[in-house]
Amino acid sequence: MTRKLTVRPETAVLTRGYDPALSVGSARPAVFRSSTYVFSSPESAARSFEIALGKARPAPGENVDLIYARISHPNAQLVEEQVVPLEQGAEDAAVFNSGMAAISSVFFTFCPPGSTVVHTAPLYGGTQLFLDAILTPLGVRTVAVDAGDKDGLARAIGAATKLALVLVETPANPTLRMSDIEAASLAAHAHPDKPLVVVDNTFLGPAFQHPLVLGADLVCYSATKYLSGFSDLLAGVVLAKDRELIGKLRGTRAVLGNILQPDECWMLNGRLVTVPLRMNKQSKNAARIAAALVDHPAIEELIYPALFKEPEQCRIRDRQCDYPGAIITLALKGGRPAAFTFLRSLTIARNAVSLGGVESLACHPRTTTHSELSVEQLDRAGITEGMVRLSVGIESWHDLLADLRTALDALA
Ligand SMILES: Cc1ncc(COP(=O)(O)O)c(C=O)c1O
Repeated sequence: MTRKLTVRPETAVLTRGYDPALSVGSARPAVFRSSTYVFSSPESAARSFEIALGKARPAPGENVDLIYARISHPNAQLVEEQVVPLEQGAEDAAVFNSGMAAISSVFFTFCPPGSTVVHTAPLYGGTQLFLDAILTPLGVRTVAVDAGDKDGLARAIGAATKLALVLVETPANPTLRMSDIEAASLAAHAHPDKPLVVVDNTFLGPAFQHPLVLGADLVCYSATKYLSGFSDLLAGVVLAKDRELIGKLRGTRAVLGNILQPDECWMLNGRLVTVPLRMNKQSKNAARIAAALVDHPAIEELIYPALFKEPEQCRIRDRQCDYPGAIITLALKGGRPAAFTFLRSLTIARNAVSLGGVESLACHPRTTTHSELSVEQLDRAGITEGMVRLSVGIESWHDLLADLRTALDALA
């Protein structure tokens, strides 16, 4: 008889989802690149299709034949099993071929034409563009509420009709303004339409923020960032407590054809085991750098969760974040010229979009990651000309600090 132990996430992520006996005993999973799978019988094929199309549910312990890699494949199944223990409260997950594929599939699945979406603002530029350029023309109404405005969000939720979904991106990219996940969930779940609460947890999860425990229904990731961690892989993940929600997403994914490919699943599988290690080191580095630079004369404002001053932002941080994370946003004196000069002067952090990798990256959000936003949206969110977003990696924080200080001193 096999003994079954309840283990902690760091252990589960190394042991769950993979049975070496299914891969000729190899200690690490094989990559199954096959596009199609041979059925054990025509009856099994029919049964697999019934289940894949949601016409039947698998019986407990039933072995269902794989069909075709657009629907699912062994490496996706493996990484989906493996990622679940990292997200507190999750029961199931679906993997996509980018963060945008994950987020857009959530909207396509749960927001029919005529429905309403309430969301925090700012959102990552790609998400905002998806809402404005694709969802709105399809007849979905969107209502934006400033990040951090708990009462405004509850009012917007309460006033919305045909409310399908509430999207909370917290901390917001790139301003790091936090929104109260629990308050949003309470307001949404009190609404007669029972909208889903979806949290984009890319900046702090899964190590430091746990939306499902705070009442959210779905958690989305750009797994391109901390989950994969080496800036060499595009991926997206959605997790939920309710397996049926993930089942519906898998249905959308099969139609859109945006499942994560076997090789990328295999890479992500190897990376997930170090997520807590990497995120802890990156957060510690960032905390030291932020504390050392906060009073630099070239900086108008240094935004970092551990250094928040606004009482409401501190309250949200203390309630829902275990650690401050590894993104520091600098508002530099001198606007765009100062920001560009600063970016040009850096020698360790590279001037690139994206974040969450082991190497430090810096970018100018107003002209890059958030250039999809209108000038009004940018100004309203406080994404200024002098703003630079810094994603802190695992380099020596002493070296990073020296490099950043030299670049800032040149401005001052
Ligand atoms: C908060 C957030 N959500 C979603 C995305 C989109 O993810 P991807 O680039 O993997 O499609 C990003 C990308 O920068 C992001 O920062």
